[in-house]
Amino acid sequence: DWTAESIVKQQIQWLRNTAQKEKVVCALSGGVDSVTAAVLTYRAIGDQLSCIFVNNGLMRKGEPEHVLRNMEALLGKGRVIAVDAKDRFLKELQGVIDPEQKRKIIGRVFIEVFEEEARNLGDATCLLQGTTYPDVIESISVCGPSVKIKSHHNVGGLPELMHLRVIEPLRFLFKDEVRQLAIELGIPDEIVWRQPFPGPGLAVRIIGEVTENRLEILRDMDYIIYQELRNSPIFKKLWQSFGVLVPVRSVGIMGDERTYKYVGVLRAVMSEDGMTADWAKISYEALDIIARRVVNEVAGIGRMVFDITSKPPATIEWE
Ligand code: XMP
Repeated sequence: DWTAESIVKQQIQWLRNTAQKEKVVCALSGGVDSVTAAVLTYRAIGDQLSCIFVNNGLMRKGEPEHVLRNMEALLGKGRVIAVDAKDRFLKELQGVIDPEQKRKIIGRVFIEVFEEEARNLGDATCLLQGTTYPDVIESISVCGPSVKIKSHHNVGGLPELMHLRVIEPLRFLFKDEVRQLAIELGIPDEIVWRQPFPGPGLAVRIIGEVTENRLEILRDMDYIIYQELRNSPIFKKLWQSFGVLVPVRSVGIMGDERTYKYVGVLRAVMSEDGMTADWAKISYEALDIIARRVVNEVAGIGRMVFDITSKPPATIEWE
């Protein structure tokens, strides 16, 4: 019968048989799938595995540092190759406004950077991917509206380009099963229960052009939202909760000064699978604190609004 312990044992054996003596490379995102796949594989084949973490500069506050610290605790020092590609991504995104264009660029640059790093390793012949059962299903045909409307770059791309053999130890597992495995492998709660975070990251949470300054504003706003919601009773029921930056200016008043600043959005939804979602009924108290803190503490934002649209018709992300 199904226990996390037995699946771990079984998949470690499977990984050893599948990889044999070959070198395996993987891209770590910091999400539960890629981390679980990496830890499992490391248990199975040790040094034959190399992990690459691409910092695209589009992650949330402190996230790249967090991912690396967590991986060090899980795999030991010096196991993850961290690539700082912030400037490269930002430069490629300069002047780009269209959401699909952003996704395409980010997907392409990610593949370029990853490929370069993997080539530096020399002899990797296999690519480890944290593909789960829902990913497999989605990419076959039963896609929900989001997949058709927005191009995701989670699946595909890399292996064809690099002639690598793909290894997917989580291919038959659902998300909650992956989480049980993660717990069994000693992966911290913070990763196990992390909300889904899109590959293109904050780039699709800034309407219009992505700039360093806008990223900084969004990061600060998003962090306040996280701080204020993480301890509230509703947090565990949220599929996602985050900030969106609308870089359109609105008038306000602070002290006796007239202000003219960007609009910040709080987006929070409940969902089973991301295909449909209801906006989350966050308490007035929490909303009030978030709005006050954001406008007081984030210099670029003068007004906070709460997105009360469900999916459909709105998507969860704003872009
Ligand atoms: P939407 O906005 O389409 O999002 O309702 C549904 C779920 O998918 C995530 N999402 C993405 N994930 N790359 C990803 O890896 C993407 O381009 C992307 N766009 C949306 C979104 O965060 C939500 O969980």
